[in-house]
Amino acid sequence: MWKSRLFTPGPTPVPDEILLEMAKPLIHHRTPQFRKILAECFNGLKELFQTKEDVMILTSSGTGAMEAAISNLLSPGEKCLVVEGGKFGERFREIAVAYGAGVTTLPVEWGKSATPSEIEAALKKEPDIKVVFTTLCETSTGTHTDVKGIGEIIRHRPDTLLAVDGISSLGAVECRTDEWGVDVMISASQKAFMLPPGLAFISLSPKAWEKSAKTKTPRYYFDLSAYRKAAAKEDTPYTPALTLIIGLAGVLKMLKTEGIENVWKRHYLLAEATRQAVKALGLQLLAEHPSNAVTAVRAPEEIDAEALTKALRDSSGITFAGGQGKLKGKIFRIAHLGWVDQYEILQAIAALELQLLKMGYALQPGAGVGAAEKVFLE
Ligand SMILES: Cc1ncc(COP(=O)(O)O)c(C=O)c1O
Repeated sequence: MWKSRLFTPGPTPVPDEILLEMAKPLIHHRTPQFRKILAECFNGLKELFQTKEDVMILTSSGTGAMEAAISNLLSPGEKCLVVEGGKFGERFREIAVAYGAGVTTLPVEWGKSATPSEIEAALKKEPDIKVVFTTLCETSTGTHTDVKGIGEIIRHRPDTLLAVDGISSLGAVECRTDEWGVDVMISASQKAFMLPPGLAFISLSPKAWEKSAKTKTPRYYFDLSAYRKAAAKEDTPYTPALTLIIGLAGVLKMLKTEGIENVWKRHYLLAEATRQAVKALGLQLLAEHPSNAVTAVRAPEEIDAEALTKALRDSSGITFAGGQGKLKGKIFRIAHLGWVDQYEILQAIAALELQLLKMGYALQPGAGVGAAEKVFLE
């Protein structure tokens, strides 16, 4: 017998009280009762995004908000720069190409991150770039990007916007949308928000709203001006995913009680314990600048990472994520994202140790757990 435990970078575990709240009989969405819940969500999202602007709630997974960013901000033929250091940078490029934008890619070796000076050089070469797309945590490689530094480069350019995919990291790692000069910030429900998949969130700066009013790309369901107009009346333009929004109000309250800076600290501690544990087992991290949302670990030469994650899932109910794209079979990823505490990290590391031992990898039993405990003690 074992219990099922998720250590994947989405979906992530949902707190029991939130599941129970979402299991209550439905209410109607055009009612004062629901408007009150929606108003709480809009306020809580502003705090989490660290923005004064509206954060709009879309009924879609995170990719829907990525698509909304592109269709609202780029007219066909307009240029954008996409930082591509993994699966999700790739996705921004694919969407931009699908919408007929002119795409310049800034290729980044998987596991590394783009630097502000690389962005600056790319913008110097092509000053007519309208939007720079980057990813706060490139989930496929567990890599953190210096969005603050990139914001410093872009905020002084009147005709260039910075759009950030914070889908796997907003609510887990420090992220200050307004202060850092982020024009478009995107996230989704199934990661640090501790909810099931189905909601995406997006905020636009005044500069981005101005650009969106001039953008000629046809759009309807993801025309963000409709969401903004409705939000001003504590409403949504279409039938919202009521159940998830009721859950959202609950998790935002939990996060507010913990305090956003404490939430970031908790994720740092969980991530640091995971990093020290895998290093103590003689394993290597993939990321040069690891994110506190997810840790990508290179599998030992002799072990196939896919076989390792499958065996863990089948024999202990512990689910890690495998590698994506060209990293398939080479890495596994341990997420410490959302509703996760120190004891769960110790369980994950203990299960990893046992599985590696079963697969013939030589390690000192308890070495990883001990290293993680040391971080928690300090
Ligand atoms: C950084 C990042 N961007 C985009 C996505 C895609 O989001 P979704 O699967 O919710 O559409 C993910 C999902 O894993 C992600 O981690």
